[in-house]
Amino acid sequence: MSETRRPPGQFAPGPRDRESSRLVTGAQREDDSNVEKSLRPRRLDEYIGQDRVKNNLNIFIQAARAREEPLDHILLYGPPGLGKTTLATIIAAEMGVSLRVTSGPAIERQGDLVSILTNLKPGDVLFIDEIHRLSRVVEEVLYPAMEDYAVDIVIGKGPAARTMRINLPKFTLVGATTRLALMTGPLRDRFGAVMRLDFYDPGAMEQIVRRSASILTMQIEDSGARMLAGRARGTPRIANRLLRRVRDVAQVAGEAVVTETTANRALELLEIDVLGLDETDRRILVSLIDKFDGGPVGIDTLAAATSEEADTIMDVYEPYLIQLGFLQRTPRGRVATRRAYEHLGIVFPDERPNQPSLFQGTT
Ligand code: ADE
Repeated sequence: MSETRRPPGQFAPGPRDRESSRLVTGAQREDDSNVEKSLRPRRLDEYIGQDRVKNNLNIFIQAARAREEPLDHILLYGPPGLGKTTLATIIAAEMGVSLRVTSGPAIERQGDLVSILTNLKPGDVLFIDEIHRLSRVVEEVLYPAMEDYAVDIVIGKGPAARTMRINLPKFTLVGATTRLALMTGPLRDRFGAVMRLDFYDPGAMEQIVRRSASILTMQIEDSGARMLAGRARGTPRIANRLLRRVRDVAQVAGEAVVTETTANRALELLEIDVLGLDETDRRILVSLIDKFDGGPVGIDTLAAATSEEADTIMDVYEPYLIQLGFLQRTPRGRVATRRAYEHLGIVFPDERPNQPSLFQGTT
């Protein structure tokens, strides 16, 4: 069994490594895990933001509890760092059951999944992160498990092979994915509720920064909290990470209270600009503009030109650049918008005089 194993190559030098060392990535980093866990809300009423999802979950949970039945299977999707794992933990806590956590890439064989399923207790929540990365054969085990609470196993080989059905306790599957489009229809259809997590609005982000600061016993001025919240790309995981870096800067400067000036200094040191973009975001946009005249360019070509993985660009970088209106996905490829040019201080083509280099420097 390899439930805790990381996807192959995750720690190999290369684009993924660089990705995991980025300060504004929504993806989980090694140094995040312990502090991040301590900052996570444990109950629904502590959870800030995502009101639509929260209200729906609250109703489902109350109804299931009143009927004394397990909750329907739930699929959560959206960019990394928005709280999918946290919500799975909260669902289990609110239902008063145990949580079992695994991920698509960790379940390599049908037997791995059968073993997890047959060890569940009635009502348990099974959380499968990156569920779109399950192989098709493993996925087939999930169909009867989700629909009939049963798995069919084949005993023996060749003509003597027989199928045996094993009944499972009633359980709730919570699946999480950053890439809904990569999930097969049959798997998606077996979830009773499919919920999208959006980037958090500035008000929610500010509340999250204040809550985390208080858990970390940090004092932060409102203007400092607002600045951090505004540069964390609508992603609590990033806000919490920036908060810790700002705490370091304040500590070294001997400041007991984090002011807007301290926050600004820390963000400048980290090369995070006013919109929360870091060097990698800017490199992707500048590459698109400088090497491909703003696009359209295919994702694989853009990945090769920036030495990033296409999947990483799609999962981590693009969603926020699209949300900012800096990048568009078109049928012919990725396109940089006028806003992206303006933010980077590059002249938009129809206003560009004849000159060899488009580049005037980044902000
Ligand atoms: N920490 C990280 N995400 C959070 C959220 N949604 N609410 C409160 N605290 C958080």
